[in-house]
Amino acid sequence: MQSSYRPVISATGLFTPEESISNEELVASFNAYVERFNARNAEAIAAGEVEPLEPSSVEFIEKASGIKARHVMAKAPVLDPEIMAPRWEERPNEALSILAEIGVAAARDALSRAGRDAADVDAVLCAASNMQRPYPAMAIEIQQALGIEGFGFDMNVACSSATFGIQTAADYIRAGNARSVLVVSPEITSGHLNWRDRDSHFIFGDVATAVLVEDAAIAPAQHWDILGTRLKTVFSNNIRNNFGFLNRAHPETADQPDKLFVQQGRKVFKEVVPMVAQMILDEAGRLGIDPQALRRLWLHQANTGMNRLIAHRVLGHEADEDESPTVLDTYGNTSSAGSIIAFHLHSDDLEAGDTGLICSFGAGYSAGTVFVRRMG
Ligand code: COA
Repeated sequence: MQSSYRPVISATGLFTPEESISNEELVASFNAYVERFNARNAEAIAAGEVEPLEPSSVEFIEKASGIKARHVMAKAPVLDPEIMAPRWEERPNEALSILAEIGVAAARDALSRAGRDAADVDAVLCAASNMQRPYPAMAIEIQQALGIEGFGFDMNVACSSATFGIQTAADYIRAGNARSVLVVSPEITSGHLNWRDRDSHFIFGDVATAVLVEDAAIAPAQHWDILGTRLKTVFSNNIRNNFGFLNRAHPETADQPDKLFVQQGRKVFKEVVPMVAQMILDEAGRLGIDPQALRRLWLHQANTGMNRLIAHRVLGHEADEDESPTVLDTYGNTSSAGSIIAFHLHSDDLEAGDTGLICSFGAGYSAGTVFVRRMG
């Protein structure tokens, strides 16, 4: 039987950290670290016992990824060649934790755009690639800070967390278990990025997004119909992070680089592009949507080359910025938040009846599609 409840996106919200690091600043810090490392290890390097480190380059970063800058929660320690990690005061349990704080900021933005009182929200899903702690759930802390009754829980599907969250919220609404659900994606990726790794030190940035998914009956007149969602996961070790509390079982390896983000970037590129393009085409076919007629693609923001290829396969021609907008240049890869930032910043100009696609992909592998149509 067809459900009488119809999930839509009422609004989205964005929190952008004030501080930003340009490629020039990032590379200067990285190369200072490389120089110091090589000087400190000069004898061992000369004896062939230690491999010298290679410098990074602004040109490589921009050409390989399209990233020019990234926002971070703590710029100075990340750029300090002796630290190269975020640092801030540890907060007492009574204070709002930092991940919840930026999630709340994005959620408030979404609520105010929808004209929604937090008291009328039924659930909070904190959908992000890195939680600050195992429990209590970040979502419950965000729920409490916003004054929401009902329930909240955390879900982690890496870069696809937000689209998986949207489908989960939409399913709650279809089933009548909730009428208004906040999907919050606070991504402090600077905490899991290895800023000393030349292959990946430029990739990530910090941000938080929120998506308010509601039953059409209570949504504002101007909203986005959710035409269909599809999720896919296929196990892969090509993007991996082994950090976790079971690392206590083998403390001798606790500081090794595999306890932060590591990837086989080339393999990811080659395997994920065809998987995602095919998934989009299959889902468009299932929904009776002509992919070439899609007004806009809000793709996951990991790499401009990947997005160009995926958009080309979907639209049948080279996509321009209007068809497939980029936010990666100033935000970097913001994990699950990327496609939501693109949607948030580049959707106001669409007209009623226009159809577009929010699409994520990343570690797992995981991928999610959300086809939407502008209403009102
Ligand atoms: N500065 C200068 N040169 C660098 C460098 C840096 N920071 N990092 C790597 N290089 C060099 C390498 O040493 C290599 O040199 P070689 O050819 O002499 O061996 C060369 O650049 C190419 O390295 P490679 O890692 O193969 O680069 P790439 O062109 O594949 O680009 C990624 C790397 C990560 C940007 C790219 O593979 C990518 O974006 N993949 C998609 C995956 C992704 O973004 N995942 C994120 C999670 S969803």
